[in-house]
Amino acid sequence: MDKYDKVFELAKNRGFIWPSFEIYGGASGFYDYGPLGATLKRKIEDEWRRFYCVGEGFYEIEAPTIGVEAIFEASGHVGGFADPMVTCEKCKESFRADHIVKETMEIPDGLKKEQLTDIIRKNAIKCPECGGPLGDVYDFNLMFQTWIGPGQKKKGYLRPETAQGMFVDFPRLLRFYREKLPFGVTQIGKSYRNEISPRQGVIRLREFTQAEAEVFVNPQFKSQHPNFNAVRELMLPLWDENAQLTNGPSTPMRVGVAVEKGTIANQYLAYYVALTYQFLVSVGIDEKKLRFRQHMCTERAHYATDCWDAEVFLDGLGWIEIVGIADRTSYDLTAHQKRSEVDLSVFIPFEKPMKVKKTVVTPDMKTIGPKFKGKAGKIMAALKAMKPEELDKPEVRLDIDGEEVVIESSLFKHETVEVDVNGENVVPHVVEPSYGVDRILYSVLDHAYDEEIVKDEERIVLRLDRKVAPITVAVLPLLGNDERLTARGVEIAKDLKGAGFFVEYDDSGTIGKRYRRNDEAGTPFCVTVDFDTVEKDGTVTVRDRDSMAQVRIPAADLSGLFGELLCTGKPLEGYGKKV
Ligand code: GAP
Repeated sequence: MDKYDKVFELAKNRGFIWPSFEIYGGASGFYDYGPLGATLKRKIEDEWRRFYCVGEGFYEIEAPTIGVEAIFEASGHVGGFADPMVTCEKCKESFRADHIVKETMEIPDGLKKEQLTDIIRKNAIKCPECGGPLGDVYDFNLMFQTWIGPGQKKKGYLRPETAQGMFVDFPRLLRFYREKLPFGVTQIGKSYRNEISPRQGVIRLREFTQAEAEVFVNPQFKSQHPNFNAVRELMLPLWDENAQLTNGPSTPMRVGVAVEKGTIANQYLAYYVALTYQFLVSVGIDEKKLRFRQHMCTERAHYATDCWDAEVFLDGLGWIEIVGIADRTSYDLTAHQKRSEVDLSVFIPFEKPMKVKKTVVTPDMKTIGPKFKGKAGKIMAALKAMKPEELDKPEVRLDIDGEEVVIESSLFKHETVEVDVNGENVVPHVVEPSYGVDRILYSVLDHAYDEEIVKDEERIVLRLDRKVAPITVAVLPLLGNDERLTARGVEIAKDLKGAGFFVEYDDSGTIGKRYRRNDEAGTPFCVTVDFDTVEKDGTVTVRDRDSMAQVRIPAADLSGLFGELLCTGKPLEGYGKKV
């Protein structure tokens, strides 16, 4: 078994993740989180909230997972959110064309369908299922379409990203944030993509969870993040466009230097790359298996000026993107402004009013009105929009509803005056860190998975970070059939639950088996209740999952001990009496 299979087996057997709808044969791209998986996921999301909602002060919102058609037409998803697909002419099975090609040779991301067809033909790539000939590559739209209400009058789509919900709420959010930039909004929730033949477990799902932050900034200040100094000296493993082009490795670089050298486009983007690094390490991603890859200009989304993916190395799968951090410019708000005809700009006051030259046009309406009748209003508006040099002519030619209208200069007067302007309307830019929670969760499991030989026996241990481990403490009576031990165990478990810890009481099987079970579940601490506990001094044994060190502690001190260990991350060995 390779590591991917081992981690997945453990995930299934210990109740983390398993395929959905198993009794009906399952469906690829759908996975359930079992009791430990759902708890681990919630703890990872809570840690994300600690970074973004508490740390950054970005409020979380909750928008519907179904959106009306206009949203996704404006965002470009209906027209262009597609992957290249190819179908076997013999068995009719369909595949992601770029994935099939990548199984045979290395190609850059983002190749067009014509280029992929060409590569398939030139290299005689055949159907991986039946060896039959493959057809031409075509675009397959990944949106799940539905109808809202009865009948087929109102088309809707399951959202492919949580982001759009935050863009369309922009006017209300702006009011909530007292009309001031910058501000950030977050959302954690399900997104849906009808992925072509998803084959990598929870890495490519058709229903998955995203945690996204949209940070709305005045474009003028994208290179002045107010908290940049907090991350300036942080070292990040960056794999920029040049390094990729020359097949070079990723290089550690300080965040401040990356912005000064222009490797990362601006401070805002760099700040969220740094925050992503800190978050991922905090939930247990191995920093030696983490890098940030800059998107090549050929693969960058049409709206993004610069984009970095956090990638982790997973045995058996290689480097996998788990977070995308993009400077989306004003693309989304401009697109929604155009489609909805609602002003999505922000009034930015100047520090001091500015004197601005303005052309004032006074049309002779007494003549223009009767002469041009219904067109008079549009003519007036068109004249007012013209520059002085365009008006300084014997006659001006206007395009009114596709018809040329000639206005002699005697029909209007114009003059340039100086006026005070107090500010300007700006469509904010958006910097977006977009996290795939499922991929992060799987990577956390992969990086935590460990095997070692202890006393000639193999021990499998999930070295999960203490704060995300689904169970923090397992309470184990030494013997499961001694009433005094079990009763005291239940009592201790109840006290610890009352103090807010995630506790599992377990009295089935030998103590050795229970330790192993909890090692595989990633439980950082086990508390063993024995005869000294009930007969002698009230102390219990606390065992550390990773070092297997054991210390003796009064049962009454347990909640204080675990509170401190969770907060500080200190080793257990510094506490109590060594066993
Ligand atoms: N709003 C930007 C956005 O959605 P993305 O790169 O398409 O960007 C962001 O997605 C993250 O969502 C990815 O880095 C990945 O972790 C996760 N993701 C995307 N598609 C996924 C899928 N089919 N299954 C699981 N996770 C996925």
